[in-house]
Formats: sequence, C-alpha cells, structure tokens
Amino acid sequence: MRQMAPLKFPATPGGDFSGVVTEIGEGVSGFKKGDEVYGQANVTRSGSGSFAEFASADVNTTAHKPKNANHVEAAALPLTGVSAWQALVDHLGLSRGEKILIHGGAGGIGTIAIQLAKYLGAYVVATVSAKDIPYVKELGTDEAIDYKNQSFEELSKLAELVDKRAIKVHIEKTFPLEQAGEALMYLQNGHPRGKVVLKIRED
Ligand SMILES: NC(=O)c1ccc[n+]([C@@H]2O[C@H](COP(=O)([O-])OP(=O)(O)OC[C@H]3O[C@@H](n4cnc5c(N)ncnc54)[C@H](OP(=O)(O)O)[C@@H]3O)[C@@H](O)[C@H]2O)c1
Repeated sequence: MRQMAPLKFPATPGGDFSGVVTEIGEGVSGFKKGDEVYGQANVTRSGSGSFAEFASADVNTTAHKPKNANHVEAAALPLTGVSAWQALVDHLGLSRGEKILIHGGAGGIGTIAIQLAKYLGAYVVATVSAKDIPYVKELGTDEAIDYKNQSFEELSKLAELVDKRAIKVHIEKTFPLEQAGEALMYLQNGHPRGKVVLKIRED
C-alpha cells in the first residue's frame, strides 16, 4: 500500500461509494448539495476512503448516480464497471458482430463485462465454473465454457492448424527450469522473435 500512496495513519480504507453530496469543493461545477452521486473515494485517488459515514472524493472520479440503481447497487459498480469499460470500449473498441472471450465471467468484472459486451452487440463466450453456467447465460452469455472441465475451442483449432503445418511455432531459445531467472532477464533485454520457453526436463 505504501508503494501506491503516501499514507498517513490513521487512514480510511475503501474505494467505491454511493451517497449524497453534503459539501462541494471550491471551483467544482456540475454538482450541488443533495445530489445523489457515486464513484471512487480511495486514498490512492485523492479521496478520503469510503468505509466511512462521510467521505471526500475527487470530482474526476465522481458522477451522478444512476436513477434506476439504489445506493447499494450503485456502490458496487464503480471500479469493476470502469475496469470493464476501459477493456471493452477504450482498449478493444468492441463493436457489433465481434466475438469476445471473457475469462472469469461470474466474477465482479466478468458480470459487468458480459452485459456491456452484449449491449455493444458482441457475441460473448465466457469461462466459468459449471455451477455458474446458468447465471452467466442469464446475463446474456452466448456460450459458457466450464473452464475446469472443458478445453478452449481456440486451442483445439490452433492444434489442428499446427498439425496441418499452417502455423509454425517459433522458439528463439529454451532455458532449463533452474534458469528461470536468466530467462526473464533475457526477455527484459529485448523482444524475442517467437517465444522463450522453460523446459522442465530434457526430452
Ligand atoms: N474488481 C475490480 O474492481 C478489479 C479492478 C481491476 C482489476 N481487477 C482484476 O481483475 C481480475 C478479476 O477481478 P474480479 O474482481 O472480477 O474477481 P472475482 O470477483 O474474484 O472473480 C474472479 C472469477 O474468476 C473465476 N476464475 C478463477 N480462476 C479461473 C480460471 N482459471 N479461468 C476462468 N475463470 C476463473 C472465478 O470463478 P470460480 O470461483 O468459479 O473459479 C471467479 O468467478 C483479478 O485479477 C483482479 O485483480 C479487478
């Protein structure tokens, strides 16, 4: 924690919050006392920590609460929701008709990512434990993969292409397991052509 923020103790933990504005900082516009807001107030983001009755939050990590969500629901959305948004919208630019594989579909980020991907019009494949298959289907998942018992379709298709010699796997260098440290140093010194692999034992 110390590496992330210069904490002064006592410090208040907690990031995500939902609540009502009681005071507004100087020069802040777009909010007024009594507004229902939600966002992030963690100490690593210029907030005062959300595990408290009152908290201060940076205006850049605060927004008006969705009207269709109560405070409990809104408080559960900020970090997972923003993480899913950054991945699917900002980084991937996911669009209608594209296919996406979401690992950990039943988790905090996964449940939002599945729904956001469906909203964007994508075909969604999600990995989950068997017990969570009905749950993620309810969220809109088109195909659910039980990651503990089912191999990935992509891996089987890749294997077929390697067998057909359509894909050649290029190994730049192998290291014995005992030299894992050297292997990582080797990677740090430049991007390899193809891959560097650790060999558990000689064939
Ligand atoms: N939560 C956040 O706001 C946040 C923000 C940024 C980054 N992250 C990172 O994003 C990742 C997911 O976070 P989360 O909050 O969504 O976690 P989470 O709520 O704990 O969910 C993780 C999910 O992954 C599943 N899972 C575990 N091993 C798996 C595997 N080998 N293949 C496929 N699924 C697997 C678990 O299912 P089972 O229990 O059924 O195995 C669980 O449903 C974590 O690495 C976290 O550090 C989270």
